[in-house]
Amino acid sequence: MIPILSARTLHKRFGLTHALRGAELDIMAGEIVAIMGPSGSGKSTLLHCLAGVIAPDEGRILLSGSDIGTLGEAARSRLRLTRFGFVFQFGQLLPELTALDNASLPLLLAGKGRREARREAAAWLDRLGIGEQAGKRPAQLSGGQAQRVAIARALAMHPEVLFADEPTGALDSLSAETTMTLMRDQVRAAGTTLVLITHDPRTAAYADREVIIRDGRVSVDSRAVAA
Ligand SMILES: Nc1ncnc2c1ncn2[C@@H]1O[C@H](COP(=O)(O)OP(=O)(O)O)[C@@H](O)[C@H]1O
Ligand SMILES: [Mg+2]
Repeated sequence: MIPILSARTLHKRFGLTHALRGAELDIMAGEIVAIMGPSGSGKSTLLHCLAGVIAPDEGRILLSGSDIGTLGEAARSRLRLTRFGFVFQFGQLLPELTALDNASLPLLLAGKGRREARREAAAWLDRLGIGEQAGKRPAQLSGGQAQRVAIARALAMHPEVLFADEPTGALDSLSAETTMTLMRDQVRAAGTTLVLITHDPRTAAYADREVIIRDGRVSVDSRAVAA
């Protein structure tokens, strides 16, 4: 089986900071992978390279075996919109829109009609256990509810890979558990690959596999250990 995503000897420098120093990683379709490691070790940089948000200085990213480095900026941006989804530490919802309108927005931008976009987004809010909150604005939601709107918004686009950078980083442990349980169940049901950065071992416990990054490279990979 070809990995859905491979990082091959990635290097990335920001001025004098050598953020990635030969990072190597293979991710299989449908896997839930937790990326852990100290602050500043290169986790977010690795995620941004894997997702085609930034280009590595050296090394390659293969998406189902194809080098995304050969794509131009427009093609990479289309890739991010059509095949990838993103969830960040703070949901990045638009404050003036309701939960339902936030979750519908990418579908509308992708050209869906208003009724269909709202119907699909509403179904995703239900799956994430927040159907009742559909009419509320972000300020009226708890942190965990807002993250679940962000997850619904991402999954409504049927991404092949969902990238989540510290999705529970701002949540209390109970909301983190609820959010992770729902996110795991929904990515499993959809067959979506999940690449999850977290500091929290309880969040990482939802993954099939844990990868630890130190000084810009993978220092521990539980799959390699288990194999
Ligand atoms: N855009 C940037 N400009 C300058 N330095 C950066 C930038 N992004 C990351 N870095 C640096 O690269 C290193 C790795 O950062 P990052 O990948 O964000 O680490 P992590 O997510 O593991 O905390 C850090 O030293 C950070 O300060
Ligand atoms: Mg980070």
